[in-house]
Amino acid sequence: MKRSIRDLVNIEGKKIFLRTDFNVPMDNVGRITDTTRIIAELPTIRFLVERGAKVIVCSHLGRPQGFDFRLSLWPIALILLKYFPGKVQFAHKVIGDKVKEQIDSVPNGSIILLENVRFYKEETENDPNFAKQLASLADIYVNDAFGVAHRKHASTYGVARLLPNAIGFLMENEINIITNAVKEPQKPFVAIFGGAKVKDKIKAITNILKSADVLLVGGAMAYSFLVAKGRTVGRSFVDIDSVKVASKILEEANKLGKKIILPDDHVAYMYGDVKEKTFITDSLNGDMVGGDIGPQTVKMFEEEISNAKQVIWNGPLGKYEDKKFQKGTFEIAKAIGNSNAYSIVGGGDSVSAVKQAHCMRMINHVSTGGGATLKLLEGGELPGIEVIQEKFV
Ligand code: ADP
Ligand code: 3PG
Ligand code: MG
Repeated sequence: MKRSIRDLVNIEGKKIFLRTDFNVPMDNVGRITDTTRIIAELPTIRFLVERGAKVIVCSHLGRPQGFDFRLSLWPIALILLKYFPGKVQFAHKVIGDKVKEQIDSVPNGSIILLENVRFYKEETENDPNFAKQLASLADIYVNDAFGVAHRKHASTYGVARLLPNAIGFLMENEINIITNAVKEPQKPFVAIFGGAKVKDKIKAITNILKSADVLLVGGAMAYSFLVAKGRTVGRSFVDIDSVKVASKILEEANKLGKKIILPDDHVAYMYGDVKEKTFITDSLNGDMVGGDIGPQTVKMFEEEISNAKQVIWNGPLGKYEDKKFQKGTFEIAKAIGNSNAYSIVGGGDSVSAVKQAHCMRMINHVSTGGGATLKLLEGGELPGIEVIQEKFV
């Protein structure tokens, strides 16, 4: 078990480098459109502030190439100020003497939010010298950036090796909930996968298949499975590599005696129709393009969900960004929310769909990770967690 911030003693006056994932969605004029990741971080920050530590908060935002004012973390400092009035300062740089002086000058229990760490190319290169400079700012390192724990960067990995370290509450919660659900699931366990690419999710699906009782597949991913079973899918989104992968998963499921349920009907449109006028069909052929699971499939999936004690869901079941194709995803979000099953949803688009369906509060655990959540579902190690020291027992 990893050392947590609860295990840190006498932190009054200590400088704590807290890596968070404040990579929040923004609109095209740079306004933050969703503060979930910031709100999820407040308990850890509050815990450290209340114990009199100086909390140096570090995050990335987007994938900048050098300095880019549109990706400054300054707007996030303003949000933090609402929760910690008078306690937040913003540092325009991430490393250097000026930042150190700023940290030294603030009273205990203050928060210093550093500028976007990815403005420095050394961050993603995990440059040892950059990690050293980050480490020189602080006495203790805390990683609470679950969403970026699958990256081996200077602020998520390199710096952790140079300081006494621990994980924060958000990280602890994500690891405990997701690994427990995969290793010791409540049965019947229904796993739902959707989204676009089977390839990115193959390891997660194969690993989940070991513990799940039923696998429901929707979204574009379902077409690769249907093709693998010899069905036609018209001009729906399929890639050849994914079909090979889907065949292997079907074989594996067969060997394990597990049920994989594919869509029975679809909300489709005709290729080339600019208005994309929709219709329901049992089989996709010719110029038909599938955009969502159909009503029969929704019913069939709902039935499985209503019998489940645990549900894990990753990947929307249709092109939910488009009103015409969001019904399947939204209905399934509601079915999961209304069921008695313990429910976990992960994945950037999946969480966004759950939010749009107004089901956030009905889901037991909404993960803050995308790639990191998938990696945990695979049963893989995350560098940002692996680097943290074990708890002394
Ligand atoms: P997550 O971010 O939750 O892991 P993904 O990124 O794997 O999910 O998949 C989300 C994308 O899959 C969405 O952009 C959605 O439009 C797309 N998608 C889902 N179903 C279909 C479909 N039938 N045809 C084309 N794209 C689809
Ligand atoms: C995310 O939003 O998935 C994380 O913040 C990781 O971002 P990245 O994919 O740019 O490393
Ligand atoms: Mg996505």
